[in-house]
Amino acid sequence: MNKEAQFITFEGGDGAGKTTQIKMFADWLTDKYGLDIVLTREPGGTKEAEKIRKLLVQKDGGDWDPLSEVLLLSAARREHLVKKIWPALEAGKWVISDRFVDSTFAFQGYGMGLGPDYIHKLYKRIAGNFMPSITFILDIDPKEGLRRSGKQLSETIDNTEKKEDRYELMGLKFQEKLRKGFLDIAKRNPKRCRVIDASQDIETVHKQICDIFENSFCKYCGLEKAS
Ligand code: TMP
Repeated sequence: MNKEAQFITFEGGDGAGKTTQIKMFADWLTDKYGLDIVLTREPGGTKEAEKIRKLLVQKDGGDWDPLSEVLLLSAARREHLVKKIWPALEAGKWVISDRFVDSTFAFQGYGMGLGPDYIHKLYKRIAGNFMPSITFILDIDPKEGLRRSGKQLSETIDNTEKKEDRYELMGLKFQEKLRKGFLDIAKRNPKRCRVIDASQDIETVHKQICDIFENSFCKYCGLEKAS
């Protein structure tokens, strides 16, 4: 591993606070290391992939068979990789994505019961051996996560925007399966993944993310730890 740009992902159940933490972490990386960063998300990140996102995250987007859902997610991911993630990395920009393939393992693999094998094979077909170099998994009690995301949805949605609540509506049992899924993914990938307790306050979570980055990944990314 050298000083080349890195691909970093944030994962977790709904309402874990990923979006807030990603912004704080990206600002910190820019201030401290002067990195050029592209922020993106899945499903989505490109014009075409955002169209697929609407089909999946809005309740009236459709009632998908799990296998069809994985194929839609994979189509969106391929668009995202080819048109945004890979070109940005090649141009020397760091890329931080709000969710990536671990979400497919957790939501469709564990949550919807598809299991990991098919998802793994499909991912290999669209991405080869490419994987994030660092993944932060924000872990939260599903009850608290659903409470937070319900609050967010009711505060931010106006009449022109449709609610992105299809997965939240799958309920507590589903979110509990996701949590187990993410923790299992972290166990299986100890080098790449770090689990953070997202029930702590925003600043504490942010500091832990920065500390982990500096203590475990800085060297690995070829960056000198800044003072
Ligand atoms: P967000 O709410 O974190 O923006 O993500 C949108 C929803 O999409 C979220 O509830 C999780 C879901 N999702 C999957 O089910 N599978 C996936 O592979 C991805 C990337 C997201």
